Amino acid sequence: MELPIYTKSQLALRNGQDKPQIWVAYKGMIYDVTDSRLWRNGKHYEHWAGQDLTEELADAPHTEMVFEKFEAVGVLQ
Ligand code: HEM
Repeated sequence: MELPIYTKSQLALRNGQDKPQIWVAYKGMIYDVTDSRLWRNGKHYEHWAGQDLTEELADAPHTEMVFEKFEAVGVLQ
């Protein structure tokens, strides 16, 4: 099944402030973290949802394995 493609500005609206959904992009894929209590209001430690956080993962105490339980909802254009 093909995932929908979203632009950076569409992603930016899913920052936990402007729309109910909370999305994070990582390596070209967009993940829905709305149900995560660790991303409440779009904030995760010093990081904000609604953007591509690929580079920021280097600052995290965890690996990209954290994305495994989330479903990709789209592809970042
Ligand atoms: C200062 C930087 C960060 C800190 C201290 C931090 C801390 C944590 C902690 C403690 C967890 C709990 C589970 C675990 O360790 O596996 C977690 C989960 C997670 N983190 Fe981070 N993180 C940071 C940055 C990031 C970044 C930049 C991303 C995205 C690229 C990210 C994405 C996630 C995701 C998707 C989860 C899973 C949430 C869940 O299971 O509900 N984190 N993080």
